[in-house]
Formats: sequence, structure tokens, C-alpha cells
Amino acid sequence: PLLIALLAVTFVGVVPRSASAITRRDFPEGFVFGAGSSAFQVEGAAAEDGRTPSIWDTFTHEGYSFDGSTADVSADQYHHYKEDVKLMHGMGLDAYRFSIAWPRLIPGGRGEINPKGLEYYNNLIDELILHGIQPHVTIYHFDLPQVLQDEYGGLLSPRFIEDYTAFAEVCFKNFGDRVKHWVTVNEPNIEPIGGYDNGSQPPRRCSYPFGENCTGGNSSTEPYIAAHHLLLAHASAVSLYRNKYKPIQDGQIGITLLGWWHEPATNTSRDAAAASRMNDFHIGWFMHPLVYGDYPPVMRSRVGERLPRLSVEESARVRGSFDFVGFNHYLILRIRSSEKEEDSSQKYKDYYVDAAVQNPVLAITEGRIESPPWALGKLLDHLKVNYGNPPVFIHENGLGDSPGTQSTIEYDDEDRTRFLQDYLEVLYQSTRNGSDARGYFVWSFLDVFEFLFAYKLRFGLCGVDMDAAARTRYVRSSARWYAGFLRGGELRP
Ligand code: NOJ
Repeated sequence: PLLIALLAVTFVGVVPRSASAITRRDFPEGFVFGAGSSAFQVEGAAAEDGRTPSIWDTFTHEGYSFDGSTADVSADQYHHYKEDVKLMHGMGLDAYRFSIAWPRLIPGGRGEINPKGLEYYNNLIDELILHGIQPHVTIYHFDLPQVLQDEYGGLLSPRFIEDYTAFAEVCFKNFGDRVKHWVTVNEPNIEPIGGYDNGSQPPRRCSYPFGENCTGGNSSTEPYIAAHHLLLAHASAVSLYRNKYKPIQDGQIGITLLGWWHEPATNTSRDAAAASRMNDFHIGWFMHPLVYGDYPPVMRSRVGERLPRLSVEESARVRGSFDFVGFNHYLILRIRSSEKEEDSSQKYKDYYVDAAVQNPVLAITEGRIESPPWALGKLLDHLKVNYGNPPVFIHENGLGDSPGTQSTIEYDDEDRTRFLQDYLEVLYQSTRNGSDARGYFVWSFLDVFEFLFAYKLRFGLCGVDMDAAARTRYVRSSARWYAGFLRGGELRP
């Protein structure tokens, strides 16, 4: 009997309650299932109807993208949105997460609104609502108007806060009657690294040669300043929304962070401490101020006066400035402690205080990324234990792969289906264990221009033939599986 009891405990412990039989009804009431995209990556129509270039247009046009391709047309959702909403409807999505292109809505960066931009987003939102799909809107997803970069250095100037807030207000005012979920900023914990530390993204600033791409900069301070302005811009938009729009529009507002999970490379206490510091430099960089009103103590002690300070008033404004937090979760990084004195890069000196065993960019290009689904559970536990168990949306999770030739766009992507099933199972368990997850969005609804890898990495539930002028859409097998699950079918049919 003891053996049987032990076996029972073991199996009950290992195999969650009939994991294969999980359906969407087992998730908390009101849990939202969706898929997402972002404006620069999906819209195309780059120079149409008054849109001006964003810093990403400049970057790609100067030939810095992975293989020299641009997002000028991409999936061309600007012209295909009706067809896309039909596909979403067919898939049974509760929600679509997309972003507003600032240079389309306000081509000068500030001031005049572009009526064609307004019209496009009004049409898209109306079409979604007509089909019973909630719009979850990201206000800013990396595509800063180039004009603001040129004028005052973009994120490095506090003027960004003012212009961003005015842009956000245009969104609240014009779309807030129908949009009830706002994300102020996407991944403010990576944009400053790509743009100002390693130069892999526009505006390509860094103070050491990560690639030949850099235009100069001072990576010992600039990433922290850029992040600080993003944080203050977020808080400013939230207080505007809460004071002026929320009382009449009754929506929710939050911010979406990249959620890499840092795991110790070995079981030594040095590596454990290093991984924990990395989580503070990555997740805590924003979560700590959002919950406690200041940067994590370990960042202050390592970065010192190069880390900007929050005034008493700023701290009060930042603290609690969210109704939910979004997380984009894809992978883990294994961390080994190493104080690399000889390494001249600032990245290893404080942001990456300790060397990541895999450099994330190389890990992805070399196809060595590790995506163990349990890491999502660890991330949610971390939020529960350290940040008061905030309401969370998993705003991105998905599998990027290379279908190869265009003729294989319509392929059976069983790997993707399995990937999503595994993560959803962990998410289900986390909700049972008390995490306050409110929704899950597959990245991406359809193939898009992937920021660092152009069209080489495809994340779509639906494929897009990027070579055909018609940008034909193909429903992949993962989309069919998702549709079945959303209609009430079992997670692993
Ligand atoms: C993060 C970004 O928000 C999104 O734009 C990107 O395409 C995906 N993750 C995949 O890398």
C-alpha cells in the first residue's frame, strides 16, 4: 500500500489533473485568448496616406536589417485588415493585440493628426468589434517617428515624455470609446539595450563595437536614461488616462515587459546569485519601480549615479501605475557568474553584470534557444512572490521557425502546436496555483517582419507569402488546433 500511495503521490504530483483534458473552461472566468502583432511589423503601406518614417524604417532602409529586407509592405495588413479580421473570427480569437503606428497617426511626431491614420485605426477597431473581437492596443511598439529622433535624440530626451503623452492622448480620445485594454509601451526593458547598449536596433548607439553598426554613444549611461524616459512616459500616460479618460471610458491600462527568465547555469550559489541579479536587471528594472517606486537596490548599488533617480513626485506617479502587467515570454538564459574585468563592454560591467552563457542574439541566430515551458511558471511565481501577484497578461508567446522556401509557407507546424500546448498547460497550472493571469496571446497572428531577423523567422499561426504581391494568407495547422481549443476542445485533442 505504501508503494501504491507513493506512486499515486508521484504521479499526481508529476502529471497535473488530466493535463490532456484541459479545456478553455478550466481557465479562470473571463480569461482572454488572443493573438498579436505590431504596426511596424505587419502593416506595410510605409509611405502611404501620409505616414512618415519611423526609426525602424530608417534602420532597414540603411541596410541594417538581417538580410537587407524592409517592412515597406510586409504582411500588408493595412490593405488586408478585413480579410485578417475574418481569419481571426474563424479562429475564434477573443482578442487581437496590435499597435498604433505613431508616424501614421501623427506624422510630425507631435501636433497635427493624420485623418487617414485615424480612419485606418477606426476601421480596424470597428471591424474587430463587429466580429466580437476585443482590441488590445499597444500605444508604442518601438516605431518612434524618425523626426523626433532627429530633432532631440528620441528616448534620450525628456521631451519624449511630453510627445509620447500627447500621442497617447490622441489614442485615448479617438479610440477609447471602443478600446478597453491599453498597453502604454512594449518591452521598455529591451529597447534601450538594443538601441543604446549593443546597437543591434535603431538608433544603433553603443560605446563599443558590438557589430560594425554602432553610431557612437555612451552605453554606460544611455540605456538607463532611455529606460527612465520610457518609464516616466508610461506613468504620465497612465495618470492622464486615469484622471481624464478612465472615468468615462472605463478601460484598463498597463505596460508589457519582455520576460526572459534567467536561470543559473550550475547549482553553485554564485551562479544562483548571478541569475537572480540578471532577473533584477531585466524584470526588476521596471517591475520594482512600478510596484515600489524605485529601481531595484542591486541596480542602484552596481550602477550608482549613472542610474537616474526618481524624484518624490515621479516615484509616487510610477508606483502602482498599472491595472495589469503584460509579459512577452519566449526563452530562458542560463547565467554563469563572471566578473569579466578584461571585457571592455559595459554590458558585462553592469547590465549584464554576469555573463549570460548564451548571448540571446547569437542563441537565436544559431538556433540554440532554450524554451522550457516551466520557465513561464517560474516567471509567474517570481511575480507572485516579489511583486504582489499583479494581474498579468501573457502578451506574447510563440515559436519562431524558418519554413524555408516560399512554397512551404502553408506547412504543418506541429512543433508550434506542441509549443503552445506545453505553455498553455503550464499557464493553466499557474492559475491553479494562484497566479493572477488574465489572458494569453499567441505571437503572432500571422507572419510578420521580425525585428532582428526580418522574414527569416516566422511566428505566424497563419503564414503569409511575402514574395507574392497579393500577400496570400495560409492557415497553418497550429491555427486549426488553436481554433479547436478556443471552440472548447481539449488542449491536446
Ligand atoms: C517581442 C516583440 O514585442 C515582437 O515585436 C517580436 O516580434 C517578438 N517578441 C518575437 O521576437
